[in-house]
Amino acid sequence: MAFPAAFIDELIQKNPIDDVVGQYVTLKRHGSNLFGLCPFHSEKTPSFSVVPDKGMFYCFGCQKGGGVINFIMEQESLDYADAVRFLAKRAGMTVPEDEGRSSTYQRQERLWKLNREAARYFHDALSGQNAEQVQSYIERRGLSKGTVTRFGLGFAPEGWTNLIDAMAKLGYQKQDLLDAGLAVKTEKGSIYDRFRNRLMFPIIDLRGNVIGFGGRVMDDSTPKYLNSPETIVFNKRKNLFALNIARKSKQGFLILTEGYMDAISLHQYGFDCAVASLGTSLTAEHVTLMAKYTDKVVLTYDADAAGQNATQRAIAILEKAGLQVKVLRVEGAKDPDEFLKKYGADRFRLLLERSENHVEYQLQRLKSQFDLSQDEGKVEYIKAAADLIATRNSSVEREVFGGRIAETAGISTDVVKHEINRAFQRLKAQQKKRQERIDLQPATEIQPRSRSIRYSNIRSAAAEEQLLRILVAEPSLFAKTSGLTGGMFSSPLLGRAFDHLNRLHLEGQAPSLSSMGEEFSPEEASHLSYVISKDIGPVKEKELMDCLQVIRSEYEKQQSQSVPDLLAARARYQRTKGMGG
Ligand code: UTP
Ligand code: MN
Repeated sequence: MAFPAAFIDELIQKNPIDDVVGQYVTLKRHGSNLFGLCPFHSEKTPSFSVVPDKGMFYCFGCQKGGGVINFIMEQESLDYADAVRFLAKRAGMTVPEDEGRSSTYQRQERLWKLNREAARYFHDALSGQNAEQVQSYIERRGLSKGTVTRFGLGFAPEGWTNLIDAMAKLGYQKQDLLDAGLAVKTEKGSIYDRFRNRLMFPIIDLRGNVIGFGGRVMDDSTPKYLNSPETIVFNKRKNLFALNIARKSKQGFLILTEGYMDAISLHQYGFDCAVASLGTSLTAEHVTLMAKYTDKVVLTYDADAAGQNATQRAIAILEKAGLQVKVLRVEGAKDPDEFLKKYGADRFRLLLERSENHVEYQLQRLKSQFDLSQDEGKVEYIKAAADLIATRNSSVEREVFGGRIAETAGISTDVVKHEINRAFQRLKAQQKKRQERIDLQPATEIQPRSRSIRYSNIRSAAAEEQLLRILVAEPSLFAKTSGLTGGMFSSPLLGRAFDHLNRLHLEGQAPSLSSMGEEFSPEEASHLSYVISKDIGPVKEKELMDCLQVIRSEYEKQQSQSVPDLLAARARYQRTKGMGG
């Protein structure tokens, strides 16, 4: 849908990009730009930049960029129209709406409300009829009143339509309950409650919205846990249980567990930084989420083989994102919940203090995988351990762990050191080769990294880019570009950007790409943001004329090509013009 240009203009004025981004990212000033840690990928050093003058952001790490609307689209997972509504709400503006169109955001809002009502219903049911069994189960699991309240635990009573009926009284329809995953449809088309006779765990996102539920049986029947299906508000790969509470913790680290009950128990025993994944293995998205709050994660998965394998996988993902990883192994219990019940908080704290750096953990694991009483096993162990330690960049670490390996294998330290050194050199050589391949690319290369946007004429594209930068910096120079149209650009994307700016200029608005979104795909917006954010120093009219000259002459060269070539180029331009948004 199209919003009036004047409305978008005001929206952007009232939502300064540094202000909006600043709510999600800590920004530090650096010249005329601001820098911070990118919210869209995990990183340790800031490569995310905001250029307030141009109303744009760009990340040199993941190459995402755009205006404030693009930022909200990405950050809040909204489409263009909903990002506009989001920003309008933020600035207290009324959106000129198409009648009858219900947006994704509006549908999401409805589900958030319904889920909240459902959570309230389940919670109230704890003290309603037929709640004896759940009450005694809660007692048996040792959950305190405070815990039940803090996590908003609830009870889905026995029966097929308890929740459906209660929600109908509040005005919710069949379809709403299905959309929220709270009800299931039969073949005949009638619906029934998904959660029946279960202890309910609401799952709450960082904005405080109830997005889904986990429900546990109170006996040995299966499945033990039933979870909400994926819905337009519930994505298991992107949310963590209890992070809404843990993010406020002062501990300075997060404890990651496998189970809801483990996280809840930890909170009850005073470890308010515990979170759990939602019955799925850890994803890079989970890690990005955690990295917003901490740079240190303690893994404490179940003691069984499955839990230890999951630990290995999680270490790899967390390490890759640059987070410090420790591993806490519960001993004498199957999981943290059971450990706390058996041994108490003090013993757990001790385990936490002694929790191994993940390298030690992995060494321990290797040790158990080889038979060190046999020469062959010993050799294999030393090789594997040396490979592992060679990945550590600190020579101190390599030294210390080398000593450990020697001790474990009962072999001289020198031999182990030699082995580690060889593995380390091998690794370095590989890295160097990779770097050389990157360095081979010319420094003047301006070819977009995105595969779907290619410059067919680098000479012209360089001029086109510079022309756009000059015009954004000095709109009065538009007067010098008469006769130039986007169709004359060698890059269809840069041509469309020119048309966009030109139109804004003719409408009497500031020519800026900060309102990009509707007519450019996120990828295109990212690239344009990169192009426009480059610093050009003082603007010179002479330079603009040079750019114009290059664009025109390259265009004429192309004009003298054969007619079929020309038609193909035109079609290309038209095609990309229809894209995006
Ligand atoms: P666990 O079986 O370890 O559960 O599964 P738990 O949290 O320790 O619970 P208790 O102590 O036995 O009551 C770990 C996680 O895997 C998911 C849930 O998220 C659970 O918390 N899971 C497990 C399911 O989604 N479905 C299942 O049937 C079982
Ligand atoms: Mn468990």
